[in-house]
Amino acid sequence: MVKNEDVFKKIISHCKEYGFVYPSSEIYDGLAAVYDYGPNGVELKNNIRDYWWRSMVQQHENIVGLDAAIFMHPTVWKASGHVDAFKDPLIDNKDSKKRYRADILIEDHITKLEEKTNKEIEKAKKRFGDKFDEKMFRETNPKVAETQKKIDDIAKRFADLINNTDLAGLRLLIEELQIACPVSGSRNWTDVRQFNMMFSTQMGSLIDEASSVFLRPETAQGIFLNYINVQKTSRKKLPFGIAQIGKAFRNEIVARQFIFRMREFEQMEMEFFVKPGEEADWYEYWKDQRMKWHLALGIHAEKFRLHDHDKLAHYAKAGADIEYKFPFGFKEVEGIHSRTDFDLSAHQKFSGKKLQYYDPDTKESYVPYVVETSIGLDRMFLAILANSYEEETLDDGSKRVVLRIPPLVAPVKVTILPLVKKDGLPEKARKIMDNVKNYFMCQYDEKDAIGRRYRRQDAIGTPYCITIDHQTLKDNTVTIRERDSMKQDRIDIEKISGIVREKIGR
Ligand code: GAP
Repeated sequence: MVKNEDVFKKIISHCKEYGFVYPSSEIYDGLAAVYDYGPNGVELKNNIRDYWWRSMVQQHENIVGLDAAIFMHPTVWKASGHVDAFKDPLIDNKDSKKRYRADILIEDHITKLEEKTNKEIEKAKKRFGDKFDEKMFRETNPKVAETQKKIDDIAKRFADLINNTDLAGLRLLIEELQIACPVSGSRNWTDVRQFNMMFSTQMGSLIDEASSVFLRPETAQGIFLNYINVQKTSRKKLPFGIAQIGKAFRNEIVARQFIFRMREFEQMEMEFFVKPGEEADWYEYWKDQRMKWHLALGIHAEKFRLHDHDKLAHYAKAGADIEYKFPFGFKEVEGIHSRTDFDLSAHQKFSGKKLQYYDPDTKESYVPYVVETSIGLDRMFLAILANSYEEETLDDGSKRVVLRIPPLVAPVKVTILPLVKKDGLPEKARKIMDNVKNYFMCQYDEKDAIGRRYRRQDAIGTPYCITIDHQTLKDNTVTIRERDSMKQDRIDIEKISGIVREKIGR
């Protein structure tokens, strides 16, 4: 069996080889936790972005879009609490001189224990076959039950320490769990210290306090600052939402796991403004809606789970993550938060401007409450790739790497392939290409044997290949090959766009 770390390494090198993701500034040996998207990567990213935007803005009459600037007045981050509270607990190993996030060392320890349990479950599944009852096994197998108790105890203690910002307690827990530095192997740790994750830079020519600005660590604040503008100009009544997609920046100390944790990344956020008192129902509504969105894309349902936050962000009264099972374990892809009136009230106080909503039904004015959905575009990209990557042995013993990307978001939808580079087939194929490219992202490929060309398309996840052969010249039909089944059908040239559109669901 191929180990998960090996699969992950293969995905990373596949991403580079096939133009999905490159390390940033590679010729200068790269820049840690910063990446560039190549020709196929940018298409996939655009398609995920569109899928989110259409479902959020186009499908909801009460949600509108916004594109706020990255730079904002420095007081925004004082009011939002990010200057004081957007901090990570860091710990250094004195031998390797490597710096780690204390919370992540503990989370990784918990993940290792979970993996131990999962291995026992997999073994038992194989032993008992169809009769296997996972719930009963978890409860009755002494080894699994004991590990689960350990996990629960650590998770509970960890949540209390984080919520109380108990840095000494975090260090003690790391020592008690005998967590060693992955580089030096030693347990020679420093104290835990807090470190602010916002990047700052200078605006204008004067180097003084007032000209320091931050690169936004979340896009949400741009929405809060514009909520009155948007509400008035688009004449929205509560409840209504504002959606935004854009870059965010965090000085992440743990730079690893490829594009999972980056210093420059993209968020797709929606802030939903509701009447105070209605936030709990809307919070449940959006948790449910967002999970449905993920499942509708066709990713394996068992790879997603909802995880209520043990540690709440400084602005949240309730929070949950939608987690995807990456090759390195279940990790957050999206957060749903009940942010109360925390942000709007703080901006009202710091700016001195009224941010109240006048409710025409009750004739009252109040500061709305906010329920937020916030998904990382790059993490969704990684989840889709991890879910899609497959090495398959075919019936004839040959191998292929195929990306089973959901057709709706696949970078290239159709590739046009003349069977041979002669006999008028390229000319016919070009004509078809000129028509089909009006509707979909297409590629044209006439180089190498047809089998190799199919493999190239499988490797970038192209759902449909159209092959033009000698019969095409006689009866205007082509073959359409489906990526996953590799099944080929003969269809009329006129029907190509309609069939592809129906198959990709757009
Ligand atoms: N406005 C709320 C907010 O920013 P968050 O849970 O800190 O909440 C939301 O971030 C999402 O942004 C996460 O679920 C994740 O997908 C993405 N994200 C956060 N930090 C990231 C990073 N360093 N690299 C890539 N994506 C990140």
